[in-house]
Amino acid sequence: MGRLLIKNAKALVGTHPAGVERVAGAAMGHLPAVEDAWLLAEEGRITSFGTMAEWPGVSDWNGLEVIDATDRYVLPGWCDPHTHTVFAAPREEEFVMKIRGASYQDIAAAGGGILNSARKLRAMDEDDLFQQAEARLREMMRQGTVAVEIKSGYGLSFESELKMLRVARRLGEALPLQVRTTLLAAHALPEEYKHDREGYLRLITDELLPAVADEKLADFIDVFCETNYFTVAEMERVLEAGARFGLSGKVHVNQFTSLGAIQAAVKHGALSVDHLEVMEEADLFALDGAATIPTLLPSCSFFLRIPYAPARAIIDRGCAVALATDHNPGSTPSGNMNLVVSLACIQLRMLPAEAINASTLNAAAAMGLAHELGSITVGKRASLIITRPVPSLAYLPYSFGSDHIDTVIIDGKPERSGEALA
Ligand code: NIG
Ligand code: FE
Repeated sequence: MGRLLIKNAKALVGTHPAGVERVAGAAMGHLPAVEDAWLLAEEGRITSFGTMAEWPGVSDWNGLEVIDATDRYVLPGWCDPHTHTVFAAPREEEFVMKIRGASYQDIAAAGGGILNSARKLRAMDEDDLFQQAEARLREMMRQGTVAVEIKSGYGLSFESELKMLRVARRLGEALPLQVRTTLLAAHALPEEYKHDREGYLRLITDELLPAVADEKLADFIDVFCETNYFTVAEMERVLEAGARFGLSGKVHVNQFTSLGAIQAAVKHGALSVDHLEVMEEADLFALDGAATIPTLLPSCSFFLRIPYAPARAIIDRGCAVALATDHNPGSTPSGNMNLVVSLACIQLRMLPAEAINASTLNAAAAMGLAHELGSITVGKRASLIITRPVPSLAYLPYSFGSDHIDTVIIDGKPERSGEALA
């Protein structure tokens, strides 16, 4: 791996000091930056940066790649800590049913939804799944994503859950972006266990988890805790089993109903609680002082026409909010973090600085990667976005739907090259 110099940047954005691994509450509104700046990356890591006025120059130009970032911002690449991006087929027929008036729950009751995806995924072999997901991840990288969490949950059987996680691990090895994986076998009760919840839970805790741990296939454990899916008590049981194998929780909670799942997840030390569209006072209260990261998914609300998470109330009580796409065929067929940042500002009323912190440092924290990614800090991976010339940072979410990215750099290497690359 070589060396890369970025010079004349309008600003390096998100220059959080080493050791700051998340920002919470009022601090989320502060996005540290260095204006008129340079940055040097060596062997894939950020090794130094500063202002052009104090640029020490270059003693050895040999093999140095140079990017002139005049008028352009340099940001940490997006981290996406909640996706289901390994799946067998899109579900646009359900999209049309929704336009005609069906709800997510109506579709699931008619045999669609997660079970529909599971039928198709079970029939598909590992290589086909890999190729499809690879194409999706390449598109996400072009859109600035440098790290992604990928869940299982469309296998819903011993073999197919392992198949999904193996595909996710292979993606991490084959592609330059960082991949973290999550076992979400408790995503829906599969057809064969319709009358045997206990049997399926035992399959997860007694068979799948040991096999997943044996092959080191997962970093986290997830449960879809929701009416008609899994109860709070069942989620607790799966979280406890996961903990015995060293997996901390990242759980789907409060998407359609408030069941007390946040309180339980916090009690079990979950790393993140995700969705949070339906929040009662007690749910907000449960987040106070908790280390668990509320992870909001505004493009899911947009697509399903469900309420948006109360981001303001959550930030204003001092939490460290993260943002993610939730990329999946049923509720969010988009892996575009730029859209998430725009929706966070437009619909969640997050300030641009808050939305950027939530999609970089806090998003990295929500997948256990804040020591490596999420800010422009010496020692971290040089995984960066260089924008096109834009008038201000607020212009990025403001001018939604346009592509403002010129170059994406992952581990010091341009993955998408634009005009800035000389
Ligand atoms: O996060 N809510 C549960 N899981 C996904 C949707 C899965 C699907 O519909 O395929 C979500 O929205
Ligand atoms: Fe999800």
